[in-house]
Amino acid sequence: MLEVRDLHAYYGKSHIIQGVSFDVSEGEVIGILGRNGVGKTTLLRSILGLTPPKRTGFIKFDDVVISSLPAHKIAEVGLGYVPQGRRIFPRLTVMENLMLPVTKGRVNKEDLEEVFNYFPVLKERAKQLGSTLSGGEQQMLAIGRAMMKRPKLIIFDEPTEGLQPSMVLKVRETIKALCRRGITAIIADQNLENALELCDRVYVLEKGTIRYTEKRENLSLELLNKYLGVIKR
Ligand SMILES: Nc1ncnc2c1ncn2[C@@H]1O[C@H](COP(=O)(O)OP(=O)(O)OP(=O)(O)O)[C@@H](O)[C@H]1O
Ligand SMILES: [Mg+2]
Repeated sequence: MLEVRDLHAYYGKSHIIQGVSFDVSEGEVIGILGRNGVGKTTLLRSILGLTPPKRTGFIKFDDVVISSLPAHKIAEVGLGYVPQGRRIFPRLTVMENLMLPVTKGRVNKEDLEEVFNYFPVLKERAKQLGSTLSGGEQQMLAIGRAMMKRPKLIIFDEPTEGLQPSMVLKVRETIKALCRRGITAIIADQNLENALELCDRVYVLEKGTIRYTEKRENLSLELLNKYLGVIKR
């Protein structure tokens, strides 16, 4: 479904992503693991055509070559994005946040119902401002917002980062429920437990390249430790 070939990305003269290739098949959940600052977010944003401005390589999604498309066109091909740090709009209500990705006048009630089924708290707080939600609830809103576009593939960037432990479990369970329903996903994380619980396959990123890739059942904890160092839980 997604094919990434020899992707390079730069911030000015810093060569952050140095020739990354990977694939995601339909129904697969892929983990991109790596320490702080290795370039996980840069990799995801390069796929989506967001910053950094300079990137090279070939990216195909669902038979569309997206590496030559601008971000607003890529947003239309069916890629959902739950950014690091959630990035909801604090001054808009929960409902307004959910409606943002929806084209004017084409609100699909079923999509909204589905989001509310996953996250009843968003229905309860539909009229509240985004800023009044807890970190965990904001993450649910960010996931709900991505779901409103009915994406074929959802990209999660550190979905449980900075959440209190009970919320980490809750958000993980939600992603698991989505996975059981057959979504295709990429999850960038430093949290090994997320990867072990959610992903079918992982790629470990270090110094801008992929150092290790393995199916979940064959993962070597020794190698993961080597590449990830102190494991954050
Ligand atoms: N806007 C920017 N301008 C310049 N350099 C940047 C910018 N954003 C990130 N970088 C640099 O690019 C490198 C990769 O950063 P990136 O955020 O992609 O890493 P990450 O793996 O997502 O880290 P984290 O786990 O902290 O989220 C880092 O060295 C960072 O300092
Ligand atoms: Mg990041």
